Amino acid sequence: MSNDNPDELERLRATGRVVADAIRAMRAAVAPGVTTGELDRIGARVFADGGARSGPQLDYGFPGATCISVNDEAVHGIPGPRRLRAGDLVKLDVTAELDGFYADACVSVAVGRTRPSLLGLIAAARHGLDDGLRAASAGVPLHRVGAAVEAAVRQRGHRVCRELAGHGIGRRIHEPPTVPSYADAEATERLTEGLVMTIEPIVSAGSGEVRIADDGWTVLTTDGAPSAHVEHTVVITSAAPLVLTA
Ligand code: MF3
Ligand code: CO
Ligand code: CO
Repeated sequence: MSNDNPDELERLRATGRVVADAIRAMRAAVAPGVTTGELDRIGARVFADGGARSGPQLDYGFPGATCISVNDEAVHGIPGPRRLRAGDLVKLDVTAELDGFYADACVSVAVGRTRPSLLGLIAAARHGLDDGLRAASAGVPLHRVGAAVEAAVRQRGHRVCRELAGHGIGRRIHEPPTVPSYADAEATERLTEGLVMTIEPIVSAGSGEVRIADDGWTVLTTDGAPSAHVEHTVVITSAAPLVLTA
């Protein structure tokens, strides 16, 4: 959506706060031995306490309140009985709807003591998001945001999963435009003031190619390489974007 209304902006901010609160609570519970289902229930409780609903459930009938993906699971992992182990890399991707407005964010968390290479992968995703945010101001064509994201990721020796992209958001989870994490030549549309969208590099230590698992939801790296994912929902301005999910 494009927002130019202070009341709607306040409601978007409120949804962003619920998403940030849910991620904070879930992240605090990440430890060896905890199941992804337990983390999901923590997120679901924060939604309920804030009067919010799960975006993935509402829009897609997703079988969980949040998407929790581990190691080679890039996105849309289904929470369940899987127990996290030291050395795992878990992605907490949280989308809430409150009062008709959506916000979406993701963090990547190392479980217990982790190999330095996984921390480097997470750092590559974070730098990609940071540089994408810095590039994202009104008037800039979308491919320039993607170029900034991918350059930061590749500089650290990793690849973006090009099949996975950010998106407009607001009244639904997924709205136009598509926000690629690379310099997609077709992404010529220019950002406009008030545009609400996500930036969300999904990066891999391998080829960056992905496939859908047999469960019909989980997106895996085809080569089994671990992946990291970070995401914020932002409002575009003439200067730095306003981050709703910080
Ligand atoms: N949070 C996801 C995103 O960043 C959307 C998940 S919706 C699902 O785009 F139903 F596919 F899980
Ligand atoms: Co998301
Ligand atoms: Co998203």
